[in-house]
Amino acid sequence: MVALARTQVVLPRSTDAEFESDVLAGLSATPKRLYAKYFYDGVGSQLFERITEVPEYYPTRTEMQILRDNAADIAKLIPSGSALVEFGAGSSKKARIVLRAAPALAAYVPVDICGEMVEQEAIELRPAFPALKVLPVTADVCFPFELPEEAKSAPARVGFFPGSTIGNFEPHEAAAFLRNAAQILGPGSTIVIGADLIKPVEILNAAYNDKAGVTARFNLNLLTRINRELRGTFKLDTFEHHAFFNRERNRVEMHLASLKRQKVKVAGECFDFRAGETIHTENSYKYSIESLGALARGVGWMPAGVWTDPDKYFSIQAFTLSDEPVARLAE
Ligand code: AVJ
Repeated sequence: MVALARTQVVLPRSTDAEFESDVLAGLSATPKRLYAKYFYDGVGSQLFERITEVPEYYPTRTEMQILRDNAADIAKLIPSGSALVEFGAGSSKKARIVLRAAPALAAYVPVDICGEMVEQEAIELRPAFPALKVLPVTADVCFPFELPEEAKSAPARVGFFPGSTIGNFEPHEAAAFLRNAAQILGPGSTIVIGADLIKPVEILNAAYNDKAGVTARFNLNLLTRINRELRGTFKLDTFEHHAFFNRERNRVEMHLASLKRQKVKVAGECFDFRAGETIHTENSYKYSIESLGALARGVGWMPAGVWTDPDKYFSIQAFTLSDEPVARLAE
């Protein structure tokens, strides 16, 4: 996940070329790795939706329940006339709960790397919230991007980053993301983040190894995508899904393990796999309320609210920025 280390790059490169160079670099690295953001092509996004429905995968339904149970409370952090900016808005399922609870919102700005997805969501959302300006933005939330004029001129901006997507970043990348979000939202703003909590290893391992095998298909689909888009020669039945909680680093790791010694070609380049060698495809960091709070405070965001479910599986955490100019906080 080098994406956030390149914060100097203001304009992201063309996504296709970036996919190719990231895959070639990742497969050339030791250990081999691919960025989790590339899971989400059309099929990958559908498979993720199916993961959220398997009984073992608790995060989505738990977060939805926390949002429903505390929507009125969360809405108190949203000043009237403000713009809700959702970072990495795949489907606006969760935002809808907030939007319904905060009728005084002037604008909703879903931001996602997948332009088609946010445009489609906007079309579906507008009739449901006729008084709301829905202003989709296509951007990689790891990089600086411009908000639409109406959002910039709103009296306040509230960030929304649900889904524990923050867990896909390395901790230093999560800090860089929060710094970028502070820069984009501006002084005095609030951000509401969904973060999966540290919990017993059996529950975590089960959530990423569902019996129906949907998570395995989601992981392997990355190879299908590489085969299709980058002239890859991965044989899917020679790779296996591995997922486990790494206790030292508080993260669930997903890997694709080669079942034999083999060579694979991608975009004309050849890569060797030892038997058992893995491609590390995802980290899903788990936080405590304290550890996410400390990370946020480190880049100027002050804890402003925490909501959890009765089992303490998942958290929604709010942070606010002081009214001082963000540049000073971000130093
Ligand atoms: C969408 C990043 C929150 O890390 O739990 C689900 C993705 N990976 N199963 C997660 C995912 C495997 C998910 N996030």
